[in-house]
Amino acid sequence: MDARPPSGLGRFGEYGGRFVPESLVPACDEVEREFRAAWEDPSFRSRLERVLSVYAGRPTPVTPAWRLSAELGITLLLKREDLLHTGSHKINSVLGQALLGQRMGKRRLIAETGAGQHGVATATAAAWLGFAATVFMGERDIERQELNVFRMRMLGAEVVPVSTGSRTLKDATSEALRHWVSSVNDSYYCIGSVMGPHPYPWMVREFQRVIGDEARTQCAAYLRTGTPDFVVACIGGGSNAAGTFAGFLDTPAQLVGVEAAGGAAVNAGTTGVLHGFRTKVLQDSHGQISYAHSIAARLDYPGIGPEHAYLSDLGRARYVTVDDHEVVKALRKLGVSEGILCALESAHAVAWVLRAVEQGEIPPGATVLLTLSGRGDKDMPTLMESTR
Ligand SMILES: Cc1ncc(COP(=O)(O)O)c(C=O)c1O
Repeated sequence: MDARPPSGLGRFGEYGGRFVPESLVPACDEVEREFRAAWEDPSFRSRLERVLSVYAGRPTPVTPAWRLSAELGITLLLKREDLLHTGSHKINSVLGQALLGQRMGKRRLIAETGAGQHGVATATAAAWLGFAATVFMGERDIERQELNVFRMRMLGAEVVPVSTGSRTLKDATSEALRHWVSSVNDSYYCIGSVMGPHPYPWMVREFQRVIGDEARTQCAAYLRTGTPDFVVACIGGGSNAAGTFAGFLDTPAQLVGVEAAGGAAVNAGTTGVLHGFRTKVLQDSHGQISYAHSIAARLDYPGIGPEHAYLSDLGRARYVTVDDHEVVKALRKLGVSEGILCALESAHAVAWVLRAVEQGEIPPGATVLLTLSGRGDKDMPTLMESTR
């Protein structure tokens, strides 16, 4: 299969769509119309390409993990999104969306953030392109990600604490959507993952597929068969995984998305509606959204992008879980073996590879591409706390 646009209504199978209050329908229509026009406009595409290259630092390399590969008996290639400006893949989609917002004549970017990486990327793009920025963030995440909150404020963004519910990303997203309703004339809602009402899941995947497209060409230079046996990425909402998978959907590669055990929307969720789209979501028998947990702030989101729910149903991608303990161990292992301190989110993917090799699920001699979605600086305080 290929990474296609969703159906006219923004459906990936039974997932996706647009479940928003009447007042937001024109805003979603406007974003969809403008995105379709921009995506078909060669001048928009070439401007985005230039911006990704001269400002964000694309293309990112693929780094062979020599020592870890030798120890595990596999070939492990790392797609280095951690090397991008602001430290994660979030900047790919934010720059795309910010250029779109500029084309639409908006003056302010609104965003939600969990780990703070999307908020930092939004604040950065806003500063660079001359937007005002308002970032909604759960109070619990503000405590966990102090450094990123400070970074956003240094970049001139307003960070709005959200005190409702679990005081995490889920609540920040609800608040950002509410705020968008009242400021839609001058504000562009810059969403952080492949989630939200149509066209966001599709649009964000298209902005992130640069990861998979680049990686596919780069892997060909390292691997005898041209494509890896396994393509692995961590999943919060699922944007780095969607972008990575899009480059490999039409290959025989096994696609593996790694969720946090406490936020495993594909593995433990059921079909429901969250933040304007239908997906697999953690909920109780009355449809109340359940609290999710992960040591990584962004991975405690109780839902998943609709395309992932669809790929799971089709059996084209597989979704697995790892727990916090394995994640911290994996982060340290990658650090001492390869000299790379990755984000806790990315360490989920590393943790699964370590376990899958140990349990024989990844056989000796296999080739694995793993997207390192971000760098670990923001997580060092959490790790210091956990090792005390
Ligand atoms: C470094 C990093 N990786 C992964 C994620 C998870 O998001 P997604 O699943 O959309 O890639 C985040 C979210 O903040 C992140 O900061």
